[in-house]
This record gives sequence, structure tokens and C-alpha cells, in this order.
Amino acid sequence: MKFDAYLFDFDGTVAETGEGIRKSAAYALERMGRPVPEKAVLDRFIGPPLHDSFMNLCGLSDDEADRAIALYRERYVDIGLYESYIYPGVAALLKALHQSGAHVAVASAKPQFMLERLAAHYGIDRYLDVIVGIGAERHSADKRDLILRALPAGTAPERACMVGDRCFDIEAAKALGLCAVGADYGYSLPGELAGAGADVVFDDVAAMREWLLEGKAPRGLFISLEGSDGCGKSTQIALLKEWLEKRGYETVLTREPGGCPISERIREVILSLDSKGMSDECEALLYAASRVEHVREVIEPALKCGKIVICDRFLDSSIAYQAYGRELGEGFIRQINEPAVRRVFPDLTLLLELNRSDARRRLAKGAPLDRLEIEKEDFFSRVQAGYEALAEAEPERIVRVDAGRPIEAVFESVSAAVEARL
Ligand code: TYD
Repeated sequence: MKFDAYLFDFDGTVAETGEGIRKSAAYALERMGRPVPEKAVLDRFIGPPLHDSFMNLCGLSDDEADRAIALYRERYVDIGLYESYIYPGVAALLKALHQSGAHVAVASAKPQFMLERLAAHYGIDRYLDVIVGIGAERHSADKRDLILRALPAGTAPERACMVGDRCFDIEAAKALGLCAVGADYGYSLPGELAGAGADVVFDDVAAMREWLLEGKAPRGLFISLEGSDGCGKSTQIALLKEWLEKRGYETVLTREPGGCPISERIREVILSLDSKGMSDECEALLYAASRVEHVREVIEPALKCGKIVICDRFLDSSIAYQAYGRELGEGFIRQINEPAVRRVFPDLTLLLELNRSDARRRLAKGAPLDRLEIEKEDFFSRVQAGYEALAEAEPERIVRVDAGRPIEAVFESVSAAVEARL
């Protein structure tokens, strides 16, 4: 690896926390009857110690700044903290560094308990060897002390880097002899990071990740969702995407059949009621054809960039619907899908299970039924049997989820299964 230890500032570097900080600073000033400055000034609160910001940016005295901090925390701890998200791509970066065996740490002038809470909330705590913030009683901290506490004992400074979005991070890193990496996507002013002596400055996470990992970005994660028609996949997929993105993962949401222009055209042919007379073999081959194009155009490139692919159906649908439902046999379906699946295969498959009468009731409430959805009941019983056989054969990959429960309960199972693979 490029370094033995990688230290990260938090606000504006790991997480976009601006909204909560701005709103809480404004709340404190309002409560004290002081004028609330414009957004550009409130942005200056992000990064440096709060006490300094209230004094330097708002002209508060030492005592007033103490009072402002107390008011700020009143709102920030319960509300403002969560008005935030991890920058897209940062979670995958932390994970890759952690997996490489390097020491990964946060060194921030934010209170320790808040950093710990946020890291746990967004699930990045598992990638961090140490989190260093300031104690509850202290208002300001010298960034150099924070860096020294975050470094493992005996690390040669030139074998460590500090990544940060403000001059304080860069100056402290340079003073201690660390490589200073500027994150210009955060809250730096134009030229601030280079001016402070950053060794290298990046204006997006992707470029920074490429440099820090020396081009060795690990493959992303391939998640597919399966289940019979009406099982509630679309709702869970939308929730999963939002959940992952808040945690700083870049996601690609896609579907089968479809997902890219050629495969979407094949989808129209397969699902249209105009295709009623289609032979079962033609149907199976069209699903396979659309899959091979989709893998090549969308899934494989996204995984190569380290993204998380969430795919609404994949090969298991062809096994359940064509091998079992149409009784074409598993061997034939696996054979025609070989060109697609030799390139990629899901790491995790969430199988949403719902009994047939509930599924039918849900479908009746939705959009007009397509060619597959109007099939007879015995077809769907075979599909169900296909899914059950798959789940029994591959319990490591296929996680069964009871989809008959309320949306939130189903999502708890979905997110827990995904969390275990992150
Ligand atoms: P879609 O409207 O996407 O259904 P759903 O919302 O239930 O996923 O239509 C896809 C239909 O195609 C669905 O009935 C399942 C079927 N299908 C197969 O038969 N084989 C396959 O390989 C795939 C991907 C889907």
C-alpha cells in the first residue's frame, strides 16, 4: 500500500454534514438574539472548532461562545447529527484500505461521542481502527494532537497520510511530516488546500480513491432481488438504494429483463401481450439474450468501479420461471445463460417470499398485468417450487425474507442481510 496509516478528517471529508451544522449554528444564534449570517459564513463552521467559529465568524465573546455551543448541541445531538450522509464512494474506500491491512482512522475536531455515533449509524465504524475526536469538556483542539493520537505508536510520519478538506488538516499534517491529501470536494475555499501546502489535492472522491488505492479499487458488490410477482421487490429496492447511499456507497439500480437499451427492447417483446403465442424456448432465449447484454453494458462495468449493483431479478428468475415454471429443465437454462453468468454472479440474493393469495391481492391493485403475470396458478406453484429449490441449494448466497410483514419489518431483514456482506 501507499501508506501504513490513513487518517481522515470527518466533516467535509468523510461525510457531508453541512446541513445539520449550519442549521444548528443558526439555531444557537437565533436563541441568543444574534443575527444569523448568510450560508457562505455558516459554511465556515464546518471543520474548525466551534468555539473559534462563534468567536471569529460571529464576533461572540469567550463566554458567549460557550453559551452558543450549549445551545448548538441542544439541537445538533438529536437532530443535526443525522442531517448528513457519507460522501459517495468513501465507504468503499475505507473498506478497501481496511481490508488491505492498513491502519485507518478518523481525526476530527468534532466531539468523540458524535463521531462514534455517526460512524456506527452509517456502518463505517467496522473499517476504522480508531476514532479520535475531542472530549465533551473541551472546546478546541490542536489538530496536531488529534493526528498524533490517531496514529499507531511508532509509525514513521512519511508512512502516514492525513486526508482533509480544510487548511487546518493540511497544515497540521505537514507540521508533523505526514503526507497531506486535500479533499477539495468538501468545504475548502478556492486555493485553500494548495495554499496550505497540500502534497496533492483531489476534487472528487473517485480520483482520490484511485490515487490512495493505486488503481487497485476492489470489485463492488452484486445484490439481486428475487421473488414471485407482487412480492414487493420494488419498494424494498428503493429503500435499499437510499439506505446504501446514505452510508456512502455508490449504487447502480437496474432490472431484468432490461437495464440497458437493447435489453429494454427485448423486455418489450417478452412481456407484451402481443407476444402471446411465443414458444417457451424463445422466451427463455430472449431472457438469456437480454441478460448477456445487460451484464456487459451495465453490471460488469459498475462492479469494476467498486459500485454496489442492485438488480431487480437475475438468473434465479430464469431458473424459477423458465426451468421450473415452463418446465424447460435447469440444465438447458443454465447452459443458455452461460455467456452472461461466466462474467458475473450475484454475491447476495434476497428472496422475498410471499404466499400466493397475498401476492395476487397486491398485483390486483397495481398496473395492468403483463404476459407472465396472467399465467395460470399451477405455473406460479412451479415458480415457487423453483425458488424453494434454489434457496435450499444455495443458503449462503440466497437469503430468504418473509415478505408478508409490514414494509419496515421486511426492510430490517433486507438491510441486515446486506449489512452482513458490506
Ligand atoms: P416485471 O414487470 O419486471 O415484474 P416484477 O415487478 O414482478 O419483477 O416483469 C418481469 C417478469 O419476467 C416477471 O413476471 C418475471 C419474469 N422473468 C422471467 O420469467 N424470467 C427471467 O429471467 C426474468 C428476469 C424475469
